[in-house]
Amino acid sequence: MATRNKSAKTAAKAPRVEVTREGKSAGKPSSSTHSGAIQPAKGKLGVMIPGMGAVATTFVAGVEAIRKGLAKPIGSLTQMGTVRLGKRTDGRSPKLKEFVPLAGLDDLVFTGWDIFEDNMYEAASNAGVLDQRLLDQLKPFLSTVTPRAAVFDHNYVKKIDGPNVKKGKTKMDLAEQLRDDIRSFKKTSGATRLITMWCGSTESFIAASEAHQSVKSFEKALRENDEMIAPSMVYAYASLMEGVPFANGAPNLTVDLPVMLELSRQNEAPICGKDFKTGQTLMKTVLAPAFKARMLGLNGWFSTNILGNRDGEVLDDPGSFKTKEESKLSVLEHILQPDLYPELYGNMYHKVRINYYPPRGDNKEGWDNIDIFGWLGYPMQIKVDFLCRDSILAAPIVLDLVLLMDLAKRSPQLRGLGIQEWLSFYFKSPMTAPGLYPEHDLFIQLMKLKNTLRHLKGEELITHLGLEYYD
Ligand SMILES: NC(=O)c1ccc[n+]([C@@H]2O[C@H](COP(=O)([O-])OP(=O)(O)OC[C@H]3O[C@@H](n4cnc5c(N)ncnc54)[C@H](O)[C@@H]3O)[C@@H](O)[C@H]2O)c1
Repeated sequence: MATRNKSAKTAAKAPRVEVTREGKSAGKPSSSTHSGAIQPAKGKLGVMIPGMGAVATTFVAGVEAIRKGLAKPIGSLTQMGTVRLGKRTDGRSPKLKEFVPLAGLDDLVFTGWDIFEDNMYEAASNAGVLDQRLLDQLKPFLSTVTPRAAVFDHNYVKKIDGPNVKKGKTKMDLAEQLRDDIRSFKKTSGATRLITMWCGSTESFIAASEAHQSVKSFEKALRENDEMIAPSMVYAYASLMEGVPFANGAPNLTVDLPVMLELSRQNEAPICGKDFKTGQTLMKTVLAPAFKARMLGLNGWFSTNILGNRDGEVLDDPGSFKTKEESKLSVLEHILQPDLYPELYGNMYHKVRINYYPPRGDNKEGWDNIDIFGWLGYPMQIKVDFLCRDSILAAPIVLDLVLLMDLAKRSPQLRGLGIQEWLSFYFKSPMTAPGLYPEHDLFIQLMKLKNTLRHLKGEELITHLGLEYYD
C-alpha cells in the first residue's frame, strides 16, 4: 500500500498524469502539462564546437561514420540505452531515443572554432585517434567543416599558440564577433536550433571574482578587457546571449559562474558542465560507492596517468593542471562523506598525477592503487590499470550531451532552470544549484537522468521499492 501512495504522490508532481492502481501512468503524458508540450525535434540541429581537437573530431567523424552505416554508436546512452517504464512485470523498456523526442543523427550539422586552421579531416588525422582508412572514407564530409577564427588568450593556455585568432579592441568586441558567427552559421546551415559544446583546451585555474557575479559586472569587465575573463567565458556569454545552450567538457569554470546562471535563466538557454567523466574518474565513481555501500574503509587512493595527446601537453602546464586536479580530486570527498563516516574515511590520502608522455598519444594509461580496510581494520589493496582511449570514451558523451541539451531547450519544464543537474552523469565535476553538493555516484546519476526523462513524460518515477510485487 505504501508504494502506491508514494507513487501517486511522486507522480502528482508531473501534472495531469494519473497513476492507476498498477502504478502505470494513465491519461495524457506531461507533454501536455501546464508548462506546455516538449517541442518536437523538427529541422536541423546546429552543433557549434569551440576547440576542434581530438575529442571534437572523434565525435564528428563518429557521427558521420554511424550515419553512413560504417560503425555503431557504442557508449552512447541516447542511441543504445533503454528506459524501464512502470513495473518490472510490465515489460515496457523503450529505447531512450524513442521515449523522448531527440534530434536524429541525420539532422546534425556542425561548425567549430580553433586557433589552428586545419579542417576536421586534417585535425582528425593529426589527432591520430581514428584509423586513417576510416577518416579517408569520411574525408569529403570532414573537410567541409573548417574552423572559424577563435577567441584565444595565450595566458590561459600556455603550451599552445596558433594563427587563427580573432582581433578586437575589447573582449566585448570579440563576444560580438562570436555572436555574428553564431547568427551566420544558423542562417547558412539552415539549422532551426543550436547548441554550443566546449571541447577546447583546459584553461589555467582561476577562482570566480567580482567580474563574474552578475551580467552587469561581467559586461563592464568585457568592455574593460578584464584579465579575469577567460576565452571560454566569452564563448559562453555569446551563446547564452543568443539563447543557445552551452555544455562545458573541460574543467574550467566557464558557465559555472553566477553571471552565466543569470543569463541562462533569463534567456532560457540551459547550461551544464564540467569536465567529461571518461576514464579514471569514471572508474572512481563506480568503485568508491561500492566501498561505501559495504562500509569498507579507505586509507589512500593514488591515481596516476600517462598520456601523449595535445590535451596531455596542455595539462603539463601547472596552471591548466591545477584546474584539472581540482576537478579530479573533489570526487572522493563527496562520495565517501568523511564527515559522516570519520572512522572509515577520516584519514584518507588522495593523490592525482597526470604525466605527459608523447609515445602514448591519445591512448592513455590510468593506474590506481587503492588501499582499503575491512573487518577489524585488516588492510587490502586493489590495483586498477585502465588502458583506455581518451577520445573514444569522450565522443559518445559529447553526442548525448548535444542531444539532451537540445531536448532541455525544447522542454518547458527544463529550459528555464539554468543548470541541468540531471546531466551530472556525464561530468567529473557536476554543476549544481548554489549551496548543493554534487552527486558523483554514477548509478545515482543515471537514476537521476532516467527519472528526469520519466518525469518529463509523466511516467511514474522508479524508486526500486518493489513491495507491491509481494502484496
Ligand atoms: N577523455 C577526454 O578526452 C577528456 C575528458 C575530460 C575532459 N576533456 C577535456 O576536453 C577538452 C578537449 O580535449 P582534447 O583531447 O580534444 O584536446 P585537444 O588538445 O586535442 O583539443 C583542444 C583544441 O582546442 C583548441 N583551443 C584551445 N583554446 C581554444 C579557444 N580559446 N578557442 C578555440 N579553440 C581552442 C586547441 O587548439 C585544440 O585544437 C580538454 O579541455 C580536455 O581536458 C577530455
